[in-house]
Amino acid sequence: MSESLTNYLSCSLDQNQLGIAIKDTILSLGDASKQIAFSLSKNGLPDNQMGVPIGDTNSDGDFKKALDVFADEAIIAEIANKHVAAYFSEEQDKVLLLEPDGALILCTDPLDGSSNIDNNLSVGTIFSILPRMNDRFEAKYLENDALQPGVSQLASGFFIYGPQTTLMLTIGNGVAAFILDKDEFVKMQWVPKLPLHGSQFAINMSNTRFWSQKARDYIQKCLDGLDGSFAKNYNMRWCGSLVADSWRIFREGGIFLYPEDRRKNYDTGRLRLVYEANPIAFLVEQAGGRASNGKREILKIKPRAIHERVPLIFGSKGDVINYESQ
Ligand code: F6P
Ligand code: MN
Repeated sequence: MSESLTNYLSCSLDQNQLGIAIKDTILSLGDASKQIAFSLSKNGLPDNQMGVPIGDTNSDGDFKKALDVFADEAIIAEIANKHVAAYFSEEQDKVLLLEPDGALILCTDPLDGSSNIDNNLSVGTIFSILPRMNDRFEAKYLENDALQPGVSQLASGFFIYGPQTTLMLTIGNGVAAFILDKDEFVKMQWVPKLPLHGSQFAINMSNTRFWSQKARDYIQKCLDGLDGSFAKNYNMRWCGSLVADSWRIFREGGIFLYPEDRRKNYDTGRLRLVYEANPIAFLVEQAGGRASNGKREILKIKPRAIHERVPLIFGSKGDVINYESQ
């Protein structure tokens, strides 16, 4: 018999109030994810219109798409009036204050990889749950709570809306993977663990000319294969959805790289520290891997702003260390 997500969470988290709050929040996110997955299907529309731009821009200056907004609103509706004191999202410039007595801070990328929606490719939702530190129910104090380094996370994970709807989750005692079976998330037999080295790399190669010498040298060694100093043939994959590229790394090992580059606004990379890099880094470390900005561990960085970007290199520990010492 497969174990349900509810049962898995209850076993570890039912001991105290904080644990129950974390459990309920993850289950609420699971309920939102079912709605998002359903909305990605044709859903009675003439065509699926979830990729239609709606005229507004997000914190990145990208045009918001219908599904970005739907996902954000579905999450807010599910977590409201429960345990989350403050909600931070890629789709919101500022904090949303929710539950005055809430013990948790929730940070999300509600719809990761949204440029893939129209192409029927995998997209997802990434989340990070932090403890609330300040009693004052005011934006400036709770914003500060969202800027805790990633080591403070209580739980993190991501959903993928692809051929299957799946969840990769950590509550700080390893990583577990779940799959939506009809209306319930059930635990997969597979336990995600990263090998010391892999033979896959994931990077957007079209940016090669903008990279630092360090990134170029590292990727060149992968491309050199058996003839090069890594003495191994590599395969390359790039989905363009962080969630899907991450799942593949968890499955097969290897390294994901979105380094800083010379393009305007890419000098600290593309991905967001608080709601993309930190939750992925927590999962990666819990699976025995390493996540870095190229110099130091992601989880030790103290964020300075909610939408701050960071270079992100993660995956098999040995591969990431090779990159750092390049
Ligand atoms: O959230 C940003 C994102 O969509 C990630 O999911 C993905 O890894 C990255 O951007 C892709 O960036 P690019 O289009 O530059 O390859
Ligand atoms: Mn994203």
